[in-house]
Amino acid sequence: MRDVSPRSLTRREILAASAACGVAAALPAIAAGKESLGELAAAKGITYGASFAGHELDAPYGASYAAMYKRECRILTSELEFKLATLRPTADVIDFAPADRLMAFAEANGLAVRGHTLIWHDALPDWINRLGPGEAGYLLDAHIETVLERYAGRVKHWDVVNEPIGPWDKLPGNLRTGVFLAAFGEDYIARSFRLARKLDPKARLVLNEAQTEADDENSRTFRESFLALVRRLKDAGVPVDAVGLESHLVSSRRYDFPRFAAWIADLAALGLEIHITELDVDDAAFPSNIRERDKRVAAMYRDFLDAVLQVKAVTTVVDWQLADHTSWIYGAALAKNVKRLPRPLPYDSEFRRKPAWYTIAEAFRAAPAR
Ligand code: G3I
Repeated sequence: MRDVSPRSLTRREILAASAACGVAAALPAIAAGKESLGELAAAKGITYGASFAGHELDAPYGASYAAMYKRECRILTSELEFKLATLRPTADVIDFAPADRLMAFAEANGLAVRGHTLIWHDALPDWINRLGPGEAGYLLDAHIETVLERYAGRVKHWDVVNEPIGPWDKLPGNLRTGVFLAAFGEDYIARSFRLARKLDPKARLVLNEAQTEADDENSRTFRESFLALVRRLKDAGVPVDAVGLESHLVSSRRYDFPRFAAWIADLAALGLEIHITELDVDDAAFPSNIRERDKRVAAMYRDFLDAVLQVKAVTTVVDWQLADHTSWIYGAALAKNVKRLPRPLPYDSEFRRKPAWYTIAEAFRAAPAR
């Protein structure tokens, strides 16, 4: 059996696989490689981008990584640089260097920035998780003030609060527990948004959530809890401009994307912009054959985007990285010594466009203009 490892798929074979995903009609124009996802999205009033990690620029492939972002993106999300763990590794250090580097790359290349994320109860350094309510409350205020004042006017979207829902904690409203909830109760969310609005009135303020997309009990709970929370915030006049729906799609899960799009429309009816913020496809349950796997990943991107882009409030689509080997899914597989390496993204590990690139491109071409 001929080796069909990533390195051996020719451009012709990738195009053939893409054509098999039903993008044949538009192939010539896109296949010429003259267009980018950012350009195709912008033609419909959609901002396209991906999460970006500055440390990737130091890798041997750094120049290819940078060129891919400059070509494909109109916006970057900080994958690590604006997180509390990066900015405040210890109680007495605040390290802006990674964030400054990301901002420098974005601004040098005319790219907008999504700051991810000011307040999140996950991936926190131990010193923060050990704080009592008073200290955590002080940190919330001080952190938002310090970061927003430093980057005022330069960050287009802020994920002000990330993943507020956590049914596993069995708290009222299915809120996720953590030091900031302990400090202010649910009001930690409103407090964060109000402070952010005061300190950077130009930024679009986003409440970002995961696990809402699937057609199963877990996602139904997340959708109900998240929509109820957003309604409470809007009813209280909290300045939430947009919601971020992470959209980490999983090959082993069941989806009803039109039904998900209908729920998105319910969110939009509250006067919110909708951002797809962390789009990728975990292909673990798809066949091992690369061509077949890439085809199914591509089809999942197409089906998802065809559904959600019907909602004109969807103004931003962001992948969670762009090239397979820089994905968190790939890193997790490496850490577990998984032999079959994931292929979740529009580019492969050689920075070549995959069928998913073509189906995302086709979804933007088919989308109604905003
Ligand atoms: O850079 C250090 C390295 O020096 C060290 O040797 C290594 C082992 O400790 O850790 C490295 O940092 C890791 C970092 O990724 C860079 O690879 C952190 O431990 C690890 O926690 C971090 O994981 C990130 C995770 O968020 C937590 O911040 C992932 O890259 C990132 O993709 C993931 O993104 C999240 C979103 O923020 C929220 N939605 C879910 C999404 C996926 O989990």
